[in-house]
Amino acid sequence: MTTQRKILVTSALPYANGAIHLGHMVEHIQTDIWVRFQKMRGHVCHYVCADDTHGTPIMLAAQKQGIEPEALIERVKTEHLADFTGFNIGYDNYYSTNSPENKAFSEQIYLALRANGKIASRTIEQLYDPEKQMFLPDRFVKGECPKCGAKDQYGDNCESCGATYGPTDLKNPYSAVSGARPVLKTSEHYFFRLGECADFLKQWTSGSSTLADGTRQPHLQAESLNKMNEWIEGGLQDWDISRDAPYFGFEIPDAPGKYFYVWLDAPIGYMASFKNLCDRIGADFGEFLDAGSTTEMYHFIGKDILYFHALFWPAMLENSGFRTPTGVFAHGFLTVDGQKMSKSRGTFITARSYLDCGLNPEWMRYYIAAKLNARIEDIDLSLEDFVARVNSDLVGKFINIASRAAGFISKRFGGRLAARIDDASLLDSLAQAAPSLAQAFEAREFSRVLRDVMGLADAVNAFVDANKPWELAREEGQDARLQQVCTVLINAFRLLTIYLKPVLPRLAADVEAFLQIPALSWDDADSLLLDHEIRPYQHLMTRVEPKQIDALIEANKQSIAPAAPAFEALAETITIDDFAKIDLRIGTVLDCQFIEGSDKLLNFTVDLGFETRTIFSGIRKAYAEPRDLIGRKVVVVANLAPRKMRFGVSSGMIVCASGEDDNSGLFLLDADEGAMAGMRIG
Ligand code: MSP
Ligand code: ZN
Repeated sequence: MTTQRKILVTSALPYANGAIHLGHMVEHIQTDIWVRFQKMRGHVCHYVCADDTHGTPIMLAAQKQGIEPEALIERVKTEHLADFTGFNIGYDNYYSTNSPENKAFSEQIYLALRANGKIASRTIEQLYDPEKQMFLPDRFVKGECPKCGAKDQYGDNCESCGATYGPTDLKNPYSAVSGARPVLKTSEHYFFRLGECADFLKQWTSGSSTLADGTRQPHLQAESLNKMNEWIEGGLQDWDISRDAPYFGFEIPDAPGKYFYVWLDAPIGYMASFKNLCDRIGADFGEFLDAGSTTEMYHFIGKDILYFHALFWPAMLENSGFRTPTGVFAHGFLTVDGQKMSKSRGTFITARSYLDCGLNPEWMRYYIAAKLNARIEDIDLSLEDFVARVNSDLVGKFINIASRAAGFISKRFGGRLAARIDDASLLDSLAQAAPSLAQAFEAREFSRVLRDVMGLADAVNAFVDANKPWELAREEGQDARLQQVCTVLINAFRLLTIYLKPVLPRLAADVEAFLQIPALSWDDADSLLLDHEIRPYQHLMTRVEPKQIDALIEANKQSIAPAAPAFEALAETITIDDFAKIDLRIGTVLDCQFIEGSDKLLNFTVDLGFETRTIFSGIRKAYAEPRDLIGRKVVVVANLAPRKMRFGVSSGMIVCASGEDDNSGLFLLDADEGAMAGMRIG
């Protein structure tokens, strides 16, 4: 054994107002594999997580359901933990940010920041819902885009023309909570002076830590570092950490009616969950969290929350007397069949539906692992590829090794493995792979691990084909040789199981029971299993059946009509003359292309019968493949004044409807067949 390390690991805390989906699972599977690997290596490794329970959306969700937020978050936590446990995620503690420990740490950190001159207070003006009597977060204010006039846009940017602005810039704003017209109201807010931490952050983000075993660990991945440099160079704004009542969260000391913004106490929830664990098992909290501590602390997160973890969080810790993270490991987003997860396509797959459809969680762990590396790349779940890889690699190449050898061992040799192995060359080559596989696990290069392990499995299967145990079994006088071959195979299977154990913990436990051995650790790759009785073989894993995938997609399609759309205030009444001013025409899409540098807009060439127009439309989100739109009939506002945009001039507007939720984007309307390009609508 090398030097023992002491490691604290976290996954991001899921919000307590939504179900766990396969996107979350990517993160927790990635973290869990890494943690299980560290534990197998004999290191001390604590893995903690929690539900992220505070904030306006959770408060409003509870109100809508007519229950107290405490009741909501308790129910959701039970559901979340059941989902994660169903995927064999082995937290040492799964806690809640709405805990006494978290309140105490949040206050302690805030007071320390204040004592260090890192807290400022300023009066700011914000939109306020006079009916609901609450300040409105940006995403709870909607209205017309100040640039192009598109309706029902959020308070930060326009889905239609791509303009960015503040909530107070919206025309005819309304509260998404009550529909009331918001008013401006002032209030005192508290800010964390992030700007003053620029020098520290420049150093920390580009820095690294030396681990107990002497290796160096950069704090950030190269891609994260680039992003942070951009942000630091762009100037760090002070961070608004307070919210006014009503708010579900922790009240700020000496500031009645003011609450910590959810993102202040969320990462502190990592510490709180760990403290709760320490108190339970008698571990030393300070050894991991005290300033200057030489233990390791890692956060696994998605790329969308880097800013919080690579800037705010280290700056908060540094300025309140705690240690800073050893590493922040960001991953990309999960897409399904190349597209953003979508409820209507049935690819917004919840963890629960996967388990309830009877799919084996270890299939998904294997597939996700086969796609994961240490970079921040999006990960695609292709359901077809999922079936193929699980069936041909995991079951076909790996599981089959055991099933091909175990029957002979139990039927012909009373379950006993040979006492020694005459030719161990195959097993030697498998054992020799251990260090490089360990290195790949350590570096979070899981796809490399599985590629290499499947390469080893290929070699084992070639050995089977070369030695043909089923023929030996039929021949006279070949008993000793048959037992040799099968003992090699069982040992090969055992070695591969060691390498796959962080990915497939349930399967590994079943293999341990089958082989009648104690829990396998990484160092067991140095030894062989000889002169030992194993149990009769029982099926360890079945193949995925395509009909299970169909059931999964069906289960995730919303079978009932989509929920009634959120309240949208009706626009001002117009006369028929006003309406007549709008010249709506049918157009045929001649061409449609991505626009470099815009993640919202598509560039349309539209035939209006009498002329051809270039129109930019902000519908990219809902349409991943613009070429599919060629030939479609669309509805165009033909007499809209041309607008000059960053990418050129847009002449007209394509009429769209907003989708099922904030993330699905805008959808084209269809024209019936009889409608011809150029025809006027009205
Ligand atoms: N509550 C915050 C995190 C606070 S951490 C102190 C939050 N919650 S979340 O539920 O929205 O997301 C939790 C984690 O899941 C984040 O790391 C996020 O990046 C990740 N993912 C959410 N959707 C995802 C995919 N589609 N794919 C991969 N990861 C995804 O953010
Ligand atoms: Zn706009």
